[in-house]
Amino acid sequence: MAARLNDQIALVTGAASGLGLAIARRLAAEGAWVALLDLCGRPGQREEMQREFGASGQVYVLDITKEDEVRGVVERVARARGRVDILVNSAGITGETGLKSHETRTDNLRLVFEVNFMGSYFTSKYALPIMVGQGYGRIRHFPPLPARREMPGCWPIRGPRRL
Ligand SMILES: NC(=O)c1ccc[n+]([C@@H]2O[C@H](COP(=O)([O-])OP(=O)(O)OC[C@H]3O[C@@H](n4cnc5c(N)ncnc54)[C@H](O)[C@@H]3O)[C@@H](O)[C@H]2O)c1
Repeated sequence: MAARLNDQIALVTGAASGLGLAIARRLAAEGAWVALLDLCGRPGQREEMQREFGASGQVYVLDITKEDEVRGVVERVARARGRVDILVNSAGITGETGLKSHETRTDNLRLVFEVNFMGSYFTSKYALPIMVGQGYGRIRHFPPLPARREMPGCWPIRGPRRL
C-alpha cells in the first residue's frame, strides 16, 4: 500500500474496537503514526494493541468524557511528536435502546451525550489549536447512525440535534 501519510500524526478515539480500530490500522498502513485512545476495558487489551501497532503507534488509556485526561493526552502527543495532523472521533456508545422517548433514563442519556458529544468536543478543543498553528489538519467525527436517520427506539443516541 502506498505510504500516503508518511510523517503524519493521527489521534484516533475508540481505537480499541470497531470503526476506530479499522481506521487506526489503515492510517498506520498508510504511514501515519497513530495515537490510539480508548478505555481499553478488556483485560490485556492495551498490551495486545501496543504489540500490534509496535513503533507505528502508542496506546493511551483514557476516558474521553474527562476533559483533563483528553487535554493531557493531546498535549503529550503534540510534545512527543511535534504536531497533530489527523483527529478521528470514533469513541461512542449506544446507551439503552428499544425504549420509548419517555422511558429513557436521564442518567443514561447524560452518559451517551458525555461520550458521543462531549468526548468529540474535548479532543477537537485541544487538537484544533495545534492544527491551526501548523496550518494543516483534518478532523472526522463518526456520529451514531440514529443521529443521521430515523431508528425507532434509539432516541437517546440521536442526541441534541434531533429530539
Ligand atoms: N458500526 C457502524 O456501522 C457505525 C456506523 C456509523 C456510526 N457509528 C458510530 O461510530 C462510533 C463507533 O462505532 P463502533 O461500531 O466502532 O463501536 P465500538 O463499540 O466497536 O467501539 C467504540 C469504542 O469506543 C470506546 N469507548 C466507549 N466509551 C469510551 C470512553 N468514555 N472513553 C474512551 N473510549 C470509549 C470503546 O471502548 C470502544 O473501543 C459509535 O458512535 C457508533 O454509533 C457506527
